Amino acid sequence: MAIIETAALTKVFPGPDRREINALGPVDLTVEAGEFICIVGPSGCGKSTLLRILAGLEQPTQGTMTAEATDLQRPFNSMVFQGDSTFPWLTVHANVEYGLRVRGVPYRERDEIAARMLRTVGLSGYAEAYPYQLSGGMRQRVALARALANDPEVLLMDEPFGALDAQNRALLQDELLYIWDQTGDSAGGGARKTILFVTHSIDEALVLGDRVLVMTAAPGRIKAEIRAPFARPRRTHELKRDPVFGELSYQIWEALRDEVDAARASELRGQR
Ligand SMILES: Nc1ncnc2c1ncn2[C@@H]1O[C@H](COP(=O)(O)OP(=O)(O)OP(=O)(O)O)[C@@H](O)[C@H]1O
Ligand SMILES: [Mg+2]
Repeated sequence: MAIIETAALTKVFPGPDRREINALGPVDLTVEAGEFICIVGPSGCGKSTLLRILAGLEQPTQGTMTAEATDLQRPFNSMVFQGDSTFPWLTVHANVEYGLRVRGVPYRERDEIAARMLRTVGLSGYAEAYPYQLSGGMRQRVALARALANDPEVLLMDEPFGALDAQNRALLQDELLYIWDQTGDSAGGGARKTILFVTHSIDEALVLGDRVLVMTAAPGRIKAEIRAPFARPRRTHELKRDPVFGELSYQIWEALRDEVDAARASELRGQR
């Protein structure tokens, strides 16, 4: 069952000198409930714009988006933004429970959920710290914990691990896969989360996703779709030894290379 569907979605921003910036599309995308989709594409092709439209934070210029919530008890989506999106005036703990507090979840329950999520992202010892006391990667983990604490049907993740060092990145990839697998377990409380995950790392996209979407240079359209046929549960390091992994990684790179070149060329034209 499709949980999100877009048809001919485009976004045009007003740019400088009354020029328009064609930022996105047209994008036709069908996301099935419980799917893990990764999106790669050159810088500036509209990936964040697409996620922001899907999150309802931005209106499309043309085209439509339909979203089908199945569980009205839970928030439909939560977004982990690119870059730092912690609230600097709140402690780490208060950051993580923020969404739950807004929804009126009782103190004890949200305290317990926040503590669990902080354990998951390895920040239990920092509950009372403020974001300025953390490293960039730690702040990113706080943002991840906040999104997970909301327990949404759809997680929209915009380069959530981009600021992390390689070890923490691999740990959190495994952790995210584990959490995602668990939410699909009947013992784990029902329907699996749907995840849309933007990344610049081809390996990360293949390790995590069911499908990897490659976007064109701006205005970003979906150029190719590569299925990642690896069995789950996955262990990120083991997967990379699979020869199929290398082959698919190369296919994605081939699709992406021309777009990165095109984006670069148009950037240079713009500078002249
Ligand atoms: N609020 C805005 N106003 C005007 N232009 C915008 C706005 N947001 C994005 N853009 C433009 O839309 C285009 C796509 O931006 P977007 O942030 O979606 O790219 P991206 O694919 O996420 O890039 P990156 O990989 O660098 O994060 C860019 O040209 C950007 O300048
Ligand atoms: Mg972006």
